Parts: sequence; C-alpha cells; structure tokens
Amino acid sequence: MFKIHKKILLLIFVFSFCLQINAQENLIINTYNRSSESLNGDWKYIVDPYENGFYNYRLEAFEDQENPGSSAFFMNAKPKDKSDLVEYDFDLSDSIAVPSDWNTQKENLYYYEGTVWYKKSFDYVKTNQDNRVFVYFEAVNYQSDVYFNGKKLGAHTGGFTPFNFEVTDLLKESDNFLVVKVDNKRIAEGVPTLNTDWFNYGGITRDVKLVEVPSTFIQDYFIQLNPENNQQIKGFVQLKGQDVSEKEILVTIPELKIKEKVVTNKEGIASIQIKSKKIKYWSTQNPYLYNVVLTVGADKIEDQIGFRTIKTQGQEILLNDEKIYLKGISIHEESPISGGRGSTIEDAQQLLNWAKELGCNYVRLAHYPHNEHMVRLADKMGILVWEENPVYWTIAWDNEETYKNAENQLSEVINRDKNRASVIIWSMANETPTSDARNVFLGNLAAHTREMDPTRLISAALEQTDYQGNPSIRTIHDDFADVVDVLSFNQYVGWYDGLPDKCGQLSWKITQNKPVLISEFGAGAKVGFHGDKLTRWTEEYQEDLYIQTLKMLEGIEQLQGFSPWILVDFRSPRRVLPKIQDGYNRKGLISEDGQKKKAFFVLKDFYDNKK
Ligand code: GCU
Repeated sequence: MFKIHKKILLLIFVFSFCLQINAQENLIINTYNRSSESLNGDWKYIVDPYENGFYNYRLEAFEDQENPGSSAFFMNAKPKDKSDLVEYDFDLSDSIAVPSDWNTQKENLYYYEGTVWYKKSFDYVKTNQDNRVFVYFEAVNYQSDVYFNGKKLGAHTGGFTPFNFEVTDLLKESDNFLVVKVDNKRIAEGVPTLNTDWFNYGGITRDVKLVEVPSTFIQDYFIQLNPENNQQIKGFVQLKGQDVSEKEILVTIPELKIKEKVVTNKEGIASIQIKSKKIKYWSTQNPYLYNVVLTVGADKIEDQIGFRTIKTQGQEILLNDEKIYLKGISIHEESPISGGRGSTIEDAQQLLNWAKELGCNYVRLAHYPHNEHMVRLADKMGILVWEENPVYWTIAWDNEETYKNAENQLSEVINRDKNRASVIIWSMANETPTSDARNVFLGNLAAHTREMDPTRLISAALEQTDYQGNPSIRTIHDDFADVVDVLSFNQYVGWYDGLPDKCGQLSWKITQNKPVLISEFGAGAKVGFHGDKLTRWTEEYQEDLYIQTLKMLEGIEQLQGFSPWILVDFRSPRRVLPKIQDGYNRKGLISEDGQKKKAFFVLKDFYDNKK
C-alpha cells in the first residue's frame, strides 16, 4: 500500500512542478512590437513603512479575508458617506513618475527601503470584444503585489525581469484602477541578498503597458539559427488560448523568400525547422536583422531577428565559426541622463554609444538583467552581450525558495531575450563564495539554462586565488569552472591587491582548457583629481592601473577578452569617502555627469589597436 501511495505522491509532485513551469511561462514576449497602451506617466503613491494598507493590526493580510474591507489600500476605497471612516486616499496623495525609482524622485525617499503603494486609474475600450487584455510590467523592484479593480492579480519577486497578468474579465470601459504594492526591502534569502555594491532603487522602475491580443494569440517563440547547422533556422512558436491544437501558423521571412506553414500540437506548440542557403549572418561588423512575421488567425507579430552561431572551440570563442576577441566594458543600469535607475531607450543609447566610442564589440550587463531596450539596441549596433542573473555574493544557498526565485528570474530573462542575436552569454552569478551548497545551486541553474536555451554559452564571474599557495602565481580554483563554457573571473591586482606595479610582479596559470574572459578589473578615480600615479583616487593612478593591467593580461594565452569595471561611476551606499566617493563607486571610466577620465583613452587605444 505504502509503495503505491509513494508513487502517487511522486506523480502529483511532477505534475505540480510542470504546472509551475507553465505558470512561469505566461510571459508575453516581444511586447515592444505589439500594439499596446502605455500606463507610463504620473501615478498616485502612498508610502507605507508599516504595511498598514496590507495587514490589519493583528498582522493578518487583508487579501486573505473574505471581505478585505475599505482599510486595504488595494481597494482604493472612498468614504461611503460623511460618517464613513477611510484613513487613506490615493487621489489626495502625491504623484510619482512611472517608470523610475522613488529614491531619486523624492528626496525624503532617497534611502527608503520598504513598501510604497502605486495607483493608476484609467478608462479602456477594447478594439475587439473577443480580445484579451494583459497588464505587462517590464520590471518592479523588488517584491510586487498587483491588484486590479480590487481583485488580486498576482505577485512577482525580482527587480529586473518582466511579468504580466490577465485583466480581461475584470476590465471595465471606465474607472479602472490598478494598484501595485512595491516592497524593495533587502532580505537575506533574496536574489540578490542583503549586501550589494549597487543602489537598491525601489519602485516601478521600467515601462508598464496594457497589451491587447486576440483570444488565441502568439505568447512565445524561439527562432534562432541551429547551432549545429548554419543553413537551418529552428525553434518553436507557442500559442495561448481556448483552442490551440492543430492551428496553422504562417512563418514568413520575406527577404529570404521563406513562407513556411507549421501546425501546433495539443499544447499549442509548433516546432520550426526552415532551411535556407542564403542567410546573411548577424555579426558585430554586420549586425544584420531579418524581419520575421508570425501569423495565426487574428494574431500577427513581427520581430527583427539576427541569425548567428556562437560556440567555443578549445580556448577560443567562435562567432559564425570565426574566432572573436571580446573588447568589452561592464555596465550598471543607471541613467546617464536622469541619474537614477535607467529604463529608457535614450539611457540605453547613451550607454551603448559610449561603449562604441570606447571601441567595444561587447558589454557585460552587470549584475542583473537590464531593460529590454539595451539588448534590442545591441542587436542593431552589433554589440555582443553578457547578461547576468543577480546571484551576487553571499546568497542563501541552502534555501529552496531562494533557488526557485533565482531560477525563475533566470527563466524570465531567457524567455525575454532568447531571440536576441547580441546575447551570447548567460551568467549564472558574480563572485560567489565556493561551497558544496553553492556548487549545487549554480550547477542546477546551469543545467536549467542549457535546457531552456542550448544555443548560448554559460559563464559566471568567478574569483582568482594563489596557485598552490604561491601568491605570485594566480589561478582559478573553483569547481564551477568545470561547468561553464567560458571561464570568467574578476581580479583587482593593483587596487584591492597591492599597487599597480604588482601587475608586473605576478603571472597567471589557468589550467582549464577553455576560453578565458576577465569579467572585472579596475580602479577608482575622482574625475578632475590629478596627481602622481601613486596617489590613490587620481585619474593618473587609474590610468596607470589600466596600463599595467593590459600589459599583465598579455601573459594569459587563453584570454579571449575582458570587460573592465566599469563604464560609468555609479551609486552605491557602500562608498562613503567624503569629497571622493560621496555615495558613488568611482571605478567608472566616465563620471556620472559624462566626463571621460584619462583611463578611458588608455583602453580605447588598446581596443582600437587590438587585431
Ligand atoms: C566586485 C563586484 C562589483 C563591485 C566591484 C568593486 O568585483 O563584482 O559589483 O562594484 O568589485 O569593488 O568596485
């Protein structure tokens, strides 16, 4: 009896796990190419440090009550009559811009970490009564609970990936109200965890839009060049709707004179395999994008997709079977225009223009998924991209919920960007301390990534150590180095580890037969502070560090590129040195107000002359 019981339990677990996967994969991809109504602009907000709008005085969640009552902020209640008691009013409260972070918008919220409620009222008339409507968030940092016309739509954890909820059955033609509870408190079991060297910007930090689709629509697709056959385009299209089986989808790529009909299975998935001998491959020199059109019933969506292969061969990285050297720079998602969390196409354009000016063909988007504009622009500009999951420093490796959170955030960015030719590397983590639990955690993330996307490379920013106890020889001694496709590590010889001349006093012994990238090196400098090259924080110190490091790196034969830390000075509460840091990490090659430091030109010269 017990044996059968166990089998039933196992079946239930597997079935619920599959459901959970499906639940994660409700993301509507490529919303930028869909007609949508933006909900950007002024929202009303209420700061709620005691979460008084979410819990009653006994700390019971209003949303768990049969009738939440008017005290719950998500009810957007008004007094029924002159005697009625309602102790909040969104419409009498202040406004805040969406998208952006509250820290740089509201001086009294600069260091605030807690809950802020957002409310947006709007009218909406569907273009077709049979259509479905979703509310789509590009990102909300960190924990969001979303309510529509007083009903809970769902919750999302993670500050850097998109999510959407259906509102079709709750939508009215007028006076809709969308309420979002945003909580950016850092928590030990979070992803990232309590300690990061970047600013914890809270808020609805990226675009919000209403996406209207036919009752049966194209929710997802993966259309890339077959890594094993560069004359074959392969992938799948996923339909969502009442009746998705046996549906004929037309895949056209007009420029290749491709018009292919594919048919969905009972899950609404149609696989694609299209041969073509005339593909112009996407590359950094020629970032060629094809217009791909998917049509089924009343739904039609277009995307601009580049076809290329990326693989490793021994110690080399091959783009379209040709060796490529990654001339990179690391970037944080801060707006060079408004100074807070970046989110606009103008922010992305400025950052990537600086990278191009520096001579880069590659950027490391640290330490979390950046907004979709960055990768779509990189596609157009021919810039290769490393995207990273915010598994940063001392994550709660033994916590199952933490792993699920990390895997979900990774799934969401892979889902969002899997059709972007520029994206070549999925990074599992940054500077994580080695342990058995951490190796299992990262190993599972890597296996999950390879299952979701076998067309790209896996890496992580690891740390270097002394070779067999000898501090003059450096090496990578990390079990995860055996899992990654590209061996990457951060090193700060000359900044945290001795002075710049130490670069000339040590050598590197990399034992893994893999391509090597250096994911970080750098030094801090306050722009305009000049002196001799041994005076810490001068532009001359930073310049000499780059000169010495570039010489040292020539000694690493497997080196296939690097992404110095970092393009622009960025905010970090960990950097408090008065008159120098003042709340900024100063390792940028450019100051936060756009002034280039001397080291910028050292790196530019190296890249411009690198064959
Ligand atoms: C680390 C870390 C970065 C940090 C940098 C620094 O390598 O990856 O997030 O900002 O060093 O100390 O400046």
